[in-house]
Amino acid sequence: MAVYFRGLDGPETFALTDAMIRSGETIDLHAAIGRKVVDKHSTGGVGDKTSLAVGPIVAACGVPFGKMSGRGLGHTGGTLDKLESIPGFRVELTTDEFLQQVRDVGLAIIGQSANLVPADKLLYGLRDVTATVDNVSLIAASIMSKKIAAGADAIVLDVKVGDGAFMKTIEDARELAETMLELGRHAGREVACVLTDMDQPLGHAVGNALEIRETIATLRGEGPADFTELVLSACAHLLAFSDLGVDEIAGRERAAAAVEDGSALALYERWISAQGGDPAEASLPTAPVVRDVQAPRAGFVAAIGAIDIGMAALRLGAGRRTKDDEIDHAVGVLCLKKRGDAVAAGETVAQVHAQDDAAAAQAADDVLAAYTFADDAPAATPIILETIG
Ligand code: URA
Repeated sequence: MAVYFRGLDGPETFALTDAMIRSGETIDLHAAIGRKVVDKHSTGGVGDKTSLAVGPIVAACGVPFGKMSGRGLGHTGGTLDKLESIPGFRVELTTDEFLQQVRDVGLAIIGQSANLVPADKLLYGLRDVTATVDNVSLIAASIMSKKIAAGADAIVLDVKVGDGAFMKTIEDARELAETMLELGRHAGREVACVLTDMDQPLGHAVGNALEIRETIATLRGEGPADFTELVLSACAHLLAFSDLGVDEIAGRERAAAAVEDGSALALYERWISAQGGDPAEASLPTAPVVRDVQAPRAGFVAAIGAIDIGMAALRLGAGRRTKDDEIDHAVGVLCLKKRGDAVAAGETVAQVHAQDDAAAAQAADDVLAAYTFADDAPAATPIILETIG
């Protein structure tokens, strides 16, 4: 509580992070794989499936990608929950299986081992019930202790900014980014941070299986523009950090080429199969009721409340309110029209995927309420607001 009110200075934040890392096992991925290994982390948003596309692209370019991920809570979805929409997919591998798969396939994404930073579980639980989650030093120490203990040489951090994110303003996001970069450098890791827009959902899909479908489409080169841009830019950073000896421009070209020539999609399929899953899109669960949401007037989409869309998906069953809730992988929302898109009166702007008509009707109302329409197009906002480091 004292930290929440008074904050920690730099050395105190280092000391806390260090103590948290030393509370459990640490992995030396470089030694275990014999190569430079890269990782990415997002502070969490609505429709954020970036790692699921970045992993296969980076690995298809020949760079090992090993990641331990978390589950979603509240209006943000977790990478593990999304992966578990794939029938058979195993998120719980032993550390040895994880390392073997990064060696063999070049890619593994698994649940965080219970032995990795056990102090974070205790501290986070305590922060959760004492309303002290929202503090830059505590968030930075929590995220970076896990990233450092998990052992990648280079880490790209994606700090989400806006309505649907922890950090509501660019100033707060910058402060968190700078703190995490310092912690990473202090631990001898190469780190870069992108601050990205979370004032509207990322891409179109919000909901587990829907987001896996969007990931597959993106790996085919048919993804939404904002999501594709974020994915290629994260890949460019990661490839520039890798031992390939390329800069960011060449990294981006290689990432785009891996999508174009089908190698990223082929790697996705190998990865999903290696973790016991069925990579065929047709095997993903589908919701029985699909309802269109129509624009009430002609004009432009001026805004889409990210939290409101996240909450609509949560009420459909795509997320969990408490950590023990079950997830319905089939349901969710597709925001087909995004900020700045022109719409005709009655045109479909979104789609709700639900288990029954009543849930679909409620979610359709919620989704429409999240959309704001205007006569003029809003000023364009890029997905990447700033890059630091
Ligand atoms: N994500 C984490 O892992 N920890 C925090 O404290 C906040 C977001």
